[in-house]
Amino acid sequence: MKKYKFLLVVSLIAIGCMTALIASINEKKVEQAQLNSVPKIDRWETKNEEFKKFYPRQYDSWKQTKESDKIEDMLEKYPELVVLWAGYGFAKDYNAPRGHFYAIEDNRNSLRTGGPVDAKTGPMPTACWTCKSPDVPRIMDEQGDMEYYTGKWAKYGSDIINPIGCADCHNPETMELQVNRSYLDTALKASGEKGLDDLTHQDMRTMVCAQCHVEYYFKKTPLADGKKAAVVTLPWANGTSVEDMEKYYDDMNFKDWTHKISKTPMLKAQHPGYEMWKTGAHGKNNVSCADCHMPYKREGGIKYTDHHVANPLDNMDNSCMTCHRTSEASLLATVNEKRKRKDELHKKAMAQIASAHLEAGKAWEVGATEAEMAPVLKDIRHAQWRWDYTVASHPAFFHAPEEVLRILGTSLEKAGNARIKLAKILAKYGATDYIAPSIDSKEKAQEIVGLPFAKLVEEKKKFKNGLLIELKKEAEKKGIYNPESTKGIEDKTSYN
Ligand code: HEC
Ligand code: HEC
Ligand code: HEC
Ligand code: HEC
Repeated sequence: MKKYKFLLVVSLIAIGCMTALIASINEKKVEQAQLNSVPKIDRWETKNEEFKKFYPRQYDSWKQTKESDKIEDMLEKYPELVVLWAGYGFAKDYNAPRGHFYAIEDNRNSLRTGGPVDAKTGPMPTACWTCKSPDVPRIMDEQGDMEYYTGKWAKYGSDIINPIGCADCHNPETMELQVNRSYLDTALKASGEKGLDDLTHQDMRTMVCAQCHVEYYFKKTPLADGKKAAVVTLPWANGTSVEDMEKYYDDMNFKDWTHKISKTPMLKAQHPGYEMWKTGAHGKNNVSCADCHMPYKREGGIKYTDHHVANPLDNMDNSCMTCHRTSEASLLATVNEKRKRKDELHKKAMAQIASAHLEAGKAWEVGATEAEMAPVLKDIRHAQWRWDYTVASHPAFFHAPEEVLRILGTSLEKAGNARIKLAKILAKYGATDYIAPSIDSKEKAQEIVGLPFAKLVEEKKKFKNGLLIELKKEAEKKGIYNPESTKGIEDKTSYN
């Protein structure tokens, strides 16, 4: 009797397993059929909602980037930044990155992009849109790269409207991974690397991110009709280390702006995330950006790519523990130790560079000559470029811990050299007892650098209550914008 009971239980378990297996196979078949049926999506479809019915899991997880909505005002957190960027847009407004979902919102809202009143006004060029939207490669394809790179950003206010999404990383017709911004391929080849067409699938899992998370500048390029284009260019011709790019900019006498206090011809590092990743343990082992930021996820029998690009430390089980055998807690502790080491040097370098700018300002005031100041300004330029390079590629302390500490070390050295030279100059002109004011709040710092904050906010509000409303209506008429996609989103900024 016992034997039969046992057999019965075994058979029931077996039947149960078979049913589950068949269900899962069926589910997979449906999923596969959906993929094989090659949904009809237009090559240049940029409305992310249009992908939902064919790829619901990828769409839903992509949309979760909406959850990362907090504004972290970096100028409030580190007021020295206002002094470091005096005379440049970043001193007006600079927040930590948020989810991809907010890329368009944040570009429009930033005080850096000003308050255009028509398609031709506003301080920033069209190139400003480049890493914000799948509408960018669409416009480049329709109008040509050079037309895209000409004019002010408001020119495309009713064309570039959907946030970073499907058509940025995929060809919507086949859903193959694809990069549609030509400057990346050009730069890879210029640096002596393989072009995109010769890369592996694993490489592409990084390259789709590298089309945006890289160092770049706007290269002024004269056109046949006398106009000038501002062309997104990656400064990689000498290679991709911080020294290679520094030399590239120095050789062409490039500056992003002239510092308002120290008169230094400055460089602004953008976000060399890819270049830094390459130097770290993961980059060296070709662990791709997607391996950590877009790990596989299971739902029933279905395995798919989690499109919720965010901080992998919030998802360590899927993001890290697939490769690492230590406990989550000890891996996390290691990461946080790296963060602390970086923070220590980062803050020291920032303070040194801010003092150097202010002391240089004093030196000019008391009569220092161009010849005396030239070597000082060179040190300040290089110190700040290097410091910026490590922190602008936000979490490089994790992607490339040793490289970050090395670069911050050289930044501190150069800032120190500048200050030794400045001490001599100040002594020569009888200003030995000058002490740079301490900078303890964003407001105080903006006052020191003479920034008309209230006016900037006023202009921005006018833009948002006027032209912006028109632009959105136009985009809807053109059929490229679905207002439902942004319904109910709270308008978050650093200034309201
Ligand atoms: C930032 C880049 C990026 C964006 C944006 C993006 N994807 Fe992906 N997608 C990837 C990567 C990387 C993979 C993994 C591809 C691989 O290794 O085969 C992937 C895989 C896929 C796959 C293959 C099945 C799977 O889950 O692995 C589908 C389908 C897909 N994505 C749909 C979408 C849709 C729909 C959107 C927009 C809502 C979207 N993707 C937005 C990068 C992106
Ligand atoms: C089309 C350009 C573009 C592409 C492609 C892109 N990013 Fe981004 N990414 C951005 C921009 C712009 C932001 C900042 C958005 C904001 O603050 O509004 C950002 C923000 C982020 C953040 C911060 C998210 C948060 O919640 O704080 C992470 C992480 C990130 N990107 C990783 C990636 C990875 C990994 C890939 C490739 C799989 C990728 N990105 C592809 C432009 C891009
Ligand atoms: C080994 C895993 C791993 C790989 C590979 C990786 N990242 Fe990250 N990334 C992380 C972790 C962990 C963090 C969060 C660190 C922290 O707490 O600030 C992060 C943070 C980021 C952020 C900043 C988020 C923010 O809000 O500040 C961006 C942007 C980013 N990564 C882009 C990339 C890009 C682009 C690549 C490929 C070139 C890449 N990552 C490769 C693990 C990885
Ligand atoms: C696809 C596999 C893979 C994934 C996913 C991965 N790692 Fe790694 N990790 C590696 C490899 C390979 C190394 C290099 C090991 C070596 O050189 O011995 C490494 C090294 C490290 C190191 C030590 C190297 C250093 O930079 O100091 C840390 C810390 C680390 N990983 C943390 C993480 C965290 C945190 C995550 C998730 C956010 C993660 N890893 C995800 C494969 C992976």
